[in-house]
Amino acid sequence: MHQDCERILLTEETIQNRVQEIADTLNREYRGKNPLVVGILKGSIIFYGDLVRKLDMPVELDFMAVSSYGSGTVSSGTLRIKKDLDKNIEGRDVIIVEDIIDSGYTLARLKEYLLSRNPASVKIVVLLDKFERRVVDIEADYTCFRIEDEFVIGYGLDYDERYRNLPYIGILKRSVYE
Ligand code: PRP
Repeated sequence: MHQDCERILLTEETIQNRVQEIADTLNREYRGKNPLVVGILKGSIIFYGDLVRKLDMPVELDFMAVSSYGSGTVSSGTLRIKKDLDKNIEGRDVIIVEDIIDSGYTLARLKEYLLSRNPASVKIVVLLDKFERRVVDIEADYTCFRIEDEFVIGYGLDYDERYRNLPYIGILKRSVYE
């Protein structure tokens, strides 16, 4: 375990088993379709890479980089698009792949934005759900793990851009960020 980790929350094996379960579900639900799988940079990249390799329908890959900031109300949450999609999504089945849903601002705004482009469908797959911290009323369609409000790192998640490459999800020691 990395020395900056308090403890491991989700082991590699636990994550891989759950990602396989989610992939099995997607493989059933998107059979015969050709979804566009949209990874939200950067936190989702490891999860995204594992998930798409377990999908057996024809998929196309695309990415967005976004950030959201708001102050207290749903209507004030603003989505800033740092990198938009390369593909036109009109009439397409879109699967958003995100690492974490926290307040919900990012995914709520992103879903609204993508729906305005007239796709056939938009569904959300999320690795982690910090459900206690939700401000906006939005849920993912597929959630790997619901977790407590703790500082998680690894498997794509960072603190100050570090630890994304850890193969497990750990809790960061308070001494690192306090
Ligand atoms: C994280 C995460 C989501 C968002 C969730 O992104 O990837 O996009 O925050 O928070 P919310 O539900 O409160 O909106 P971050 O800005 O840390 O970027 P990163 O993925 O590049 O690490």
